[in-house]
Amino acid sequence: MATLLAIETSCDETAVAVIRGLTGHRAEILASEISSQIALHREHGGVVPEVASRDHSLRLDSLIRRALDQAGTAIGEIDAFAATSGPGLASSLLVGTSAAKGMACALDRPFIGVNHLEGHLLSPFIDISEVPPHLALIVSGGHTLLIDVAGAGRYRRLGGTRDDAAGEAFDKVGKMLGLPYPGGPEIEQAARDGDPAAFAFPRSMLATDHFDFSFSGLKTAVLYTLRDLTGPPPVADIAASFQQAVIEILVGKTLRAAAATGHTRVAVSGGVSLNRPLRSALATACSDAGLAFTAADPRWCTDNAAMIGFAALLRHHEGRHSPLDEDIDPNLKLASDDGLCEHNPSP
Ligand code: KG4
Ligand code: ZN
Repeated sequence: MATLLAIETSCDETAVAVIRGLTGHRAEILASEISSQIALHREHGGVVPEVASRDHSLRLDSLIRRALDQAGTAIGEIDAFAATSGPGLASSLLVGTSAAKGMACALDRPFIGVNHLEGHLLSPFIDISEVPPHLALIVSGGHTLLIDVAGAGRYRRLGGTRDDAAGEAFDKVGKMLGLPYPGGPEIEQAARDGDPAAFAFPRSMLATDHFDFSFSGLKTAVLYTLRDLTGPPPVADIAASFQQAVIEILVGKTLRAAAATGHTRVAVSGGVSLNRPLRSALATACSDAGLAFTAADPRWCTDNAAMIGFAALLRHHEGRHSPLDEDIDPNLKLASDDGLCEHNPSP
C-alpha cells in the first residue's frame, strides 16, 4: 500500500495530489488540489510562460501542504514523489520536477517523472484502476491524439494534429468571437443558443485514410466568415457551427480508428473532453457501433495531479523509478508509431 505525492506544473495549473495504492492495483485519490492561473493569463489572451512558472513557484509550497493536510498524511509517510516531466513549458516543468526531486532527495525516496500525456490517457481509468486495451482519444489545449492502447505503458500512436490542437482551435475561435480565455467552455456555453447548421465550416481530413487531424482550415474559415460579415456577428450560430464541425471530425476519426484497430472500447480524455455535446456524440456513436465508451471523470479532464499520481503509481508498482538527474523534456512524446512509449520503454 504505497502513498505517492504527485505534482503537475506543465502549463497553467499548479496541482498536487496524494494517491494511495490499494490491493489489486486499485487507487484512491486522497487529495487533489489545483490552483488555476486562468485569471492571470486572461488579460494576455493566452498563457505567458514566464508568468506561469513564477506563479507555480509561488503557489507550490502551500498547495503541497494543503494536499498533505487534506489527505491526512505526513510528508514522511510518502513513499515516492512524482512530477510531470514533459511535454509542456520548460520553465514550468522545472518548478514541479525540482520540488518533487528535492523532497525525494531529502527523504531518500524514489522520484518518478511522468509523461503528461500518459496522465491524460490513463485518467478515464483512475476510478476503476485498471487499463483495458482500448482506442484512446486525447483532446486538450496542446494535443489531439489517437492512440492504440494495448494496456498500461503499451501505446502506439495512430495520428495527431498536423497544426492546431482541438483545444487551441476552441481558444483561438473564442478569441475571434470576443469571448474570454479559455475559449472552450465559453464556446460550449454560447453554442447552446445557436444553430449548428447555420454555417457550413469545413471538416478537414475527415475522409482521409490516415488518422491525422487539421484544425487550422476550420479556424481560418471562421476568421473569413467574421471578416465578410456586415453587422454584429451571430456569435451563438458561429460557436454552434464551429463546435459541430470539431465534434464531427473527432467522432468520425475516432470511430474509424476503433474499427481499424479492432478495439471494442473507446476512451476520451483531456480538457476538450469536458465538452458535453462532444461527450454525448462520442457516447452515441460508440453505442451505435457496439463499442464500450469511457470518458474521464470531469474532475480529471483538465490538467490535474491525480492523473499524474495514477500514472506514477502504476510505474511504482513495477518498481520503475526515474533517476534524479533525469531532465525535463518540453517535447516529450507519448509513443512513437513503432509501438514504444518513450517514457515507459518496457512492453
Ligand atoms: O487538458 P487541458 O487542461 O490542457 C492541456 O493539457 O492542454 O485542456 C485545456 C483545454 C483548453 O484549450 C480549453 O479551452 C479546453 O481544454 N476546454 C474545452 C472545454 N473546457 C475546456 N473545450 C471545449 N469545451 C469545453 N467545455
Ligand atoms: Zn493537459
